[in-house]
Amino acid sequence: MKYLTFALAKGRLAEQTMELLEKIGMSCEEMKQETRKLIFTNEDLKLKFFLSKASDVPTYVEYGAADVGVVGKDTILEEERNLYEILDLQLGKCHMAVAGLPENSQRFKTMNNIRVASKYPRIAKHYFDEQHRTVEIIKLNGSVELAPIVGLSDVIVDIVETGSTLKANGLQVFEKFCPLSARMIVNRSSMKMEHQRIVEMIDKMREILTLS
Ligand code: PRP
Repeated sequence: MKYLTFALAKGRLAEQTMELLEKIGMSCEEMKQETRKLIFTNEDLKLKFFLSKASDVPTYVEYGAADVGVVGKDTILEEERNLYEILDLQLGKCHMAVAGLPENSQRFKTMNNIRVASKYPRIAKHYFDEQHRTVEIIKLNGSVELAPIVGLSDVIVDIVETGSTLKANGLQVFEKFCPLSARMIVNRSSMKMEHQRIVEMIDKMREILTLS
């Protein structure tokens, strides 16, 4: 039997995903130990798990280096990879938002050619394109909340979960859009080649998700 390989976004999401997989009998003891290792196997069940940066998970899945991946919907939308999105795991629920300094909230509605800083340039562009608003997108890699404060941009487009990062930095949500959560994704050819194993896993996962 061939290994079924999973790419997981390292951090809390990988831990929560492993808890779900364990509930359907797909555990990995090796992964529970404190280690800097990135690849783990369950030889009995022929399962392989690896941890990557969230934004790389769809890449591993599209190219078939992983059969299955678990990553946030934000990353799936931003990466626009060729793969199947098969299941909402209902983990890490949050949403996208346009945010800025409170004093700009009225001006934002009428402003033209606004500057938008974001870790998600595609999502941000798509959002403003749909509204027929011309914007200049500035790609950042993190701590996006800084941008309006230091004058790099008028607003940001970012994930808001608890809202505490915005609050701590004196920013306000102007518009909320796109509910997000973690999704299971599958490589297109793995879906054919490993159809039975993958469908069984999805069915079991669906069952425990409806129970919880
Ligand atoms: C994310 C996001 C926000 C924050 C939102 O950043 O980009 O900054 O979390 O969460 P909250 O609404 O619960 O405060 P992350 O922690 O991934 O760090 P980064 O900005 O350095 O990427």
